[in-house]
Amino acid sequence: MIKLNIDGIDVEVEEGTTILEAARKVNINIPTLCFLKEINEVGDCRMCVVEVEGRRGFATSCIQKAEDGMVVKTNTEKVNSARRMVLDLILSNHDRKCLTCVRNGNCELQKLAEEFGMTDIRYDGEKGGHEIDDKSPSLVRDFNKCVLCRRCVATCKNVQGIGAIESTERGFKSCISTAENRSLNDVNCTFCGQCIENCPVGALKEKDNTNEVWEKLKDKDAFVVVQTAPAVRVGIGEEFGMPIGTTVTRKNGYSIKKTWI
Ligand code: SF4
Ligand code: SF4
Ligand code: FES
Repeated sequence: MIKLNIDGIDVEVEEGTTILEAARKVNINIPTLCFLKEINEVGDCRMCVVEVEGRRGFATSCIQKAEDGMVVKTNTEKVNSARRMVLDLILSNHDRKCLTCVRNGNCELQKLAEEFGMTDIRYDGEKGGHEIDDKSPSLVRDFNKCVLCRRCVATCKNVQGIGAIESTERGFKSCISTAENRSLNDVNCTFCGQCIENCPVGALKEKDNTNEVWEKLKDKDAFVVVQTAPAVRVGIGEEFGMPIGTTVTRKNGYSIKKTWI
């Protein structure tokens, strides 16, 4: 075990613990954006910077290991102004259409902007101008909202074992792309949606066909057939009061077969 002091509070943690985890242990909140525990620990965004006594510059708390005797400050003027700068730069090249964004009210970037009391955007720079990729039947990618955290890349490669997406280019041109910049529809993407689950913003979203379904339901001449996705075959049984875990499968298009598992 090692002992350190964070914002005046003594903390004891196992060797190998990051400053971020040590701070969380004593309920000190350090903002993060690219960090995703055990999936994406790359120290890319620099939202989580802190000051360490006796050291020049900032420490990136999500990857920097805590050391015995360390004295850490997480909430100084310098630290907050560095984090604010990170947000300013991200927002300078961000498509800020929050009201019509699927993640409005549930967006990590929006929450950070609110926490930092951002009422203006200090730098209004050139925008990426990326084309929206909505060719796949399930996913929409809008990289005009991407914060380049790479959480989707790590999820696709390390959790799903697919590797359909990767970071490409450098500097202002940096983006998350596929082989030869093809649509997700034309590469080895399985449309599992796990990258959407871990994206902190609205750069990735599910394709929503709700309105089309409503239109068809209103059409008296249309015979509407509904098919659930495999995972829903269990969930839907619960919705109709069946015991948890009941697999409900359509058979011959008319009857329901119940299988107990
Ligand atoms: S949907 Fe699944 S396979 Fe496709 S890019 Fe996202 S994580 Fe990878
Ligand atoms: S698409 Fe989302 S998860 Fe992927 S890098 Fe951009 S912001 Fe991060
Ligand atoms: S959260 Fe630490 S660098 Fe992004």
